[in-house]
Amino acid sequence: MIPVLDKKHIVLGVTGSIACYKALDLASKLTQGGALVDVVMTQSATRFVTPLAFGGITHQPVVIDLFDPQSELSVEHVALAERADLLVVAPATANSIAKMALGLADDPLTTTLLATMAPVIVAPAMDGHMYENAAVQENLKKLRDRGVTIVGPDEGYLASGKMGKGRLVETPELMGHIRAILGKDGDLAGSTIVVSAGGTQEPLDPARIITNQSSGKMGYALAEAARDRGARTVLVTAPTSLPDPVAVEVVRVQTALEMRDQVFKATANAQALVMAAAVADYRPRLASPQKLKKDSDSMTLELTRNPDILTETTGPIVKVGFAAESQDLAQNAREKMARKGLDLIVANDITDPESGFGSDSNKVLILGKNGQVEDLPLMPKEAVAHRVLDRVRDLMAAEKG
Ligand code: CTP
Repeated sequence: MIPVLDKKHIVLGVTGSIACYKALDLASKLTQGGALVDVVMTQSATRFVTPLAFGGITHQPVVIDLFDPQSELSVEHVALAERADLLVVAPATANSIAKMALGLADDPLTTTLLATMAPVIVAPAMDGHMYENAAVQENLKKLRDRGVTIVGPDEGYLASGKMGKGRLVETPELMGHIRAILGKDGDLAGSTIVVSAGGTQEPLDPARIITNQSSGKMGYALAEAARDRGARTVLVTAPTSLPDPVAVEVVRVQTALEMRDQVFKATANAQALVMAAAVADYRPRLASPQKLKKDSDSMTLELTRNPDILTETTGPIVKVGFAAESQDLAQNAREKMARKGLDLIVANDITDPESGFGSDSNKVLILGKNGQVEDLPLMPKEAVAHRVLDRVRDLMAAEKG
């Protein structure tokens, strides 16, 4: 379940493009996230994918005909438009975009789009030359000017066999936009939260680095959760294999020193800093400009201490640290909290295989500087992120008041 999607009514408009198959995946991810998805298909969309396929995924009737006596729309043709929290048209063909720009209402989808007060996302999918056509560009501009969010299209392989711009964006990108729009008035709206993620890399020479096992998953989950709750979110991240979260300001860094500079910059206008990054405590004293050669049987590396980013971040800001420990969890975490002047510390036992590095779940203790302790069971990192942000929200409110 994704809290920002829970019980939200989303109308998924599907128009006639070969990319219809990707809309099945989107319908599935939205439904899994807890949304109630009403699929509205154009007649040509039903030539690519059957309504049965969408109905099987969403467990809701699929609307294809304005005059179908079985359909809710035939009774009250603006019913879907009124109950929708958000409409997303994916894939949107050049023809359906033109109809939207003109304000036509000659099928269930265009009728719903005209009648709704909810935000609308349009994800175009078409041949590259069609997309570049001035008529399509003008129509998209009209929609944009009216407040519609246009997502994509992507560049790449097209159904015609050519390369070009016209591919429907992938599901995670659409999910990011949907979540950001639905969450924009959430309980963190109006605040800026800086999150750090990943393991810093400290170069030894042009080919080698010293790093650690951090996957970045916890930090990315925190950034997405903060965005879903309406915060302006800045993610300062060391290299990871994770894609950039949508609607989050992503700042890429490599070393601890770079991370320090970017965290300082971002926190100058922020109300909270959540340091989920695994910052290298030491870096090679000298990074060799040339690749080191193995010219002796042993070698000694001289390391120098990195600055402590959390300790050095000062100002009226809520500071949250993470403590990855292999023994004396609570005691070590409490000492770290005091030493670094934190408001909150999230401690996990890295020797526990279920919550160690790279895992999708985490079992943590959240300790507050006032002695409060929350001992959470094993849960997905997304859920941990929300529990941490609940505390951050309360701390930010206390700081303000
Ligand atoms: N941290 C930091 N700057 C550093 C090292 C750590 O801001 N140079 C932050 C981490 O992002 C984390 C918290 O401090 O939120 C605790 O990190 P951890 O590595 O557990 O603690 P250390 O201070 O490095 O202590 P030790 O390695 O001795 O346990």
